[in-house]
Formats: sequence, structure tokens, C-alpha cells
Amino acid sequence: MLLSQHGRSLSVCAPAKLNLFLEILGRRTDGYHELETLMVSIGIYDTLLFTEGESGKTRLRCCHVGSQDRNDSDQAAALPAADENLVVKAANLLRSHARIDYGVTIDLVKRIPVASGMAGGSSDAAATLAGLNRFWDLHLSSDELIHLAGRLGSDVAFFLAGEPAAVCRGRGEIVEPVAMPVKLWFVIVRPRSGLSTPAVFRECQPPDSPRRVDELLTRLNTGRFDRIGALLHNSLQEAAERLNSDVTELKRELSTQPVLGHLMTGSGTAYFGVCHSRRHAMRVAARLKQAQLGRVYVAGSGQ
Ligand code: C5P
Repeated sequence: MLLSQHGRSLSVCAPAKLNLFLEILGRRTDGYHELETLMVSIGIYDTLLFTEGESGKTRLRCCHVGSQDRNDSDQAAALPAADENLVVKAANLLRSHARIDYGVTIDLVKRIPVASGMAGGSSDAAATLAGLNRFWDLHLSSDELIHLAGRLGSDVAFFLAGEPAAVCRGRGEIVEPVAMPVKLWFVIVRPRSGLSTPAVFRECQPPDSPRRVDELLTRLNTGRFDRIGALLHNSLQEAAERLNSDVTELKRELSTQPVLGHLMTGSGTAYFGVCHSRRHAMRVAARLKQAQLGRVYVAGSGQ
């Protein structure tokens, strides 16, 4: 997450993430699932610009980049209404926690596809907490911000930590940074349809013998990417495929492509292939564009 001050306004870049591993360890009594997941931030960003606003009010203005794309009307419709948007919730939560009545106008430029498992909303919420802490000169500690992040969503703490990669546990809010010294490149396809996270979790079945992330971490740490495909794992994928055939179609297509491995991210529907260089990813992206299964992105790991 990159914060830059321009005179009386502040801008923040909010990255997307991919899950290279997601295991469900069990159901919890609070309705959530206990997870072990490896999250990697990638170079696709939303941008938030904070400027002064009417006292006590949060005003959100939103625009989607790439408006010639016919997916974008769906994307705008899928974005939650202003008072349901996590950005507005984050700003209001911070205002009441700090007992202030400052106002703010937030201009949000969306590049991260919505309802895709890339956590754009959570990243925007983390950017709002970190951005307004600076913009309003609140000096809240990172522990206080992490506590607020947990109230906004399970993925928000990962983005607040600002780490390129982390294993997240609990419901996702316990963040343990991990080393990934060699940059990976991804080709990502977001199909025309999205999926709702609660619906996918409702549909999934926690496995009897959960898999662990350790072997994948060792491979990523040492840059040995052979056999990496077999170690990529997402326990939500089967459920997502039952709910949305676009995911299955993408799996079929990616398994015919020369990638190191492929997987659905988070609760879907975006699907990615792992590549060893940007050039490799661009080559696969050109082939995937021809298949016309959705919007195709190329991005590297890290902030
Ligand atoms: O935490 P967040 O609001 O992002 O979660 C959205 C929904 O996803 C939750 O309401 C819950 O249905 C599901 N979820 C879950 N277990 C998790 C994270 C999310 O069941 N660890």
C-alpha cells in the first residue's frame, strides 16, 4: 500500500491479492470458517484520493477504469451502494472510534474486478483506514487499526500489514508474513460472472484431512517452481464450480496452457495461471484473450 501526499489531498494505492493456497480447517461457532491461506499481493491496484469534505460526512465517488469493456457495466452494478461500501464503512468506523467529526470526500478508481476473489473491497477498506489515519492526523497505533480491520472483514488485516505475502489463519485476520524472494508472474482471467463469498462458503465442505501450506512455502522460498502446480490448492474451488460453470470452463482452458500451475483465487470467480516471467505470462495472456472467456490481466507478485 503506497501513500502519497499532494498538497491538501492524499492518495493511496490498494493492491489486489491472489490465494495460492486456501485450506478450510473447520467450521467455527461464530459462523465463519477456520482457514490456512497463503495470500500474495499483486500489481493490480485501485486508487483512493482523499480530500476534505463536509463535516461529519463521508462522500464516495467511484469510477471504473476501462469503460469501453462491456464487463464494466456489470462491474459498476456489482459494486455495493455507497453506504454498504467497505470504504464508507471504514471511514465511518474510524470517525466514531477516534470520536471526531471530520468530513472527507473519497474518489475511488476501481481496477480490481468486483466479486472475483481478489479482495478489492477489503484492500480499499485497509487503504481507507491507513489513509485517513494519516489524512486526519489521528496517530492510531497499528494494533488499533488491526482491531478495526477485523470488524470490517477477514481479509482487511492482510492489506493493512502491507506485506507482499503472508500466511493468514483464524478467519483470515491472523497475518504471518512469509518470504517469497523470487517474483512470480500471473495471468488472471475474470469471467463475465462473479460469485458471492458467503454463498461459496455455505456450499463448501470442510475436508476430513486438511492439507498444509508448508511444502508450498518451502518451494516459493527457495525458488524451486517445478511441481508447484500440485501444491497450489483451494478448498473453495469445488463449491465455486458447483455454483458457477464459468470457473470450470476456465480450469479446463488453463489446464491446456503452458503454465507452472493454475487455481481459482479466494471464493472466485477469477482464475489464474502461474508463470516464471512477465514475458511468459504475456504469451499465455495473448492465447487466453482469443478464448474470450473473460477479461485477462497480467500481474507480478509483491507490492
Ligand atoms: O469476513 P468477510 O466479511 O470478508 O466474510 C464474508 C463472508 O464469507 C462471511 O460472512 C462468511 O459467510 C464467509 N467467511 C467464512 N469464513 C471465513 C471468512 C469468510 O465463512 N474465514
